[in-house]
Amino acid sequence: MNKLLQYSSITSKVVMALAGLFLVTFLGVHLGINLLLLKDDGGRSFSAAAEFMGTNPLIRIFEIVLFAGFLIHIVAGFLVSGKNRASRPAGYQVGNRTETSFLSKYMLHSGIIVMLFLSLHFSDYYFIKIGLVAPPEGIDAHDFYAMTVHLFSSTWYALFYMSSFVLLGFHLNHAIQSAFQTMGWNHTRYMSAVKMAGTIYSVVISLGFMVIPLYFLLFR
Ligand code: HEM
Repeated sequence: MNKLLQYSSITSKVVMALAGLFLVTFLGVHLGINLLLLKDDGGRSFSAAAEFMGTNPLIRIFEIVLFAGFLIHIVAGFLVSGKNRASRPAGYQVGNRTETSFLSKYMLHSGIIVMLFLSLHFSDYYFIKIGLVAPPEGIDAHDFYAMTVHLFSSTWYALFYMSSFVLLGFHLNHAIQSAFQTMGWNHTRYMSAVKMAGTIYSVVISLGFMVIPLYFLLFR
């Protein structure tokens, strides 16, 4: 029974790590497309990229995989965190303590906030696109550029998005090194390079996304 529990715990961690690394890649692509919003062409380049993403059949399939990835990552995250909590009183090695409590405490918290951000983000764009939520008055349900201008004309909303990106950065920073450790890709020779690369990636993602609401707030 103990072996079975241990096995399912490792499986959850591996599944969470793999789904997480997939989401990390998605974020890079999403940011790349979103940065087109900053091009001073009235949203033409961004809308062309969004139109391609919205109509290409391969990307449609990718969307299903992406949603499954989010769901799997979130469910596995809760499972791992629950198991970490449950195993806490049973006295584990001292060296493990900081890692375990960090993961179950702050990763879960920042993860939940990113999840809340995502629910709101979906109602800002995706749910409007598929007709679940009405678009803002006078805006076409497929005009993501106009929706973005409208969204970030609110200072509070722009600030909310920006603070979510700070937490996303912290979540990513720990998540990337943790995923490498889980997968056993933690050879001492290159682990510090992995940590450094993960931190640089997280900062680029976090600041890159933050620039968008800031730009619309200040210049549009
Ligand atoms: C300023 C920042 C952001 C902007 C302007 C933005 C904009 C958009 C837009 C316009 C879409 C609709 C695409 C479509 O449905 O075809 C979208 C979808 C999505 N966004 Fe964002 N996004 C931002 C940040 C983020 C972040 C930080 C995450 C993840 C933590 C995220 C996750 C998603 C997901 C999962 C979708 C659905 C993907 C799909 O439709 O295939 N976004 N976003």
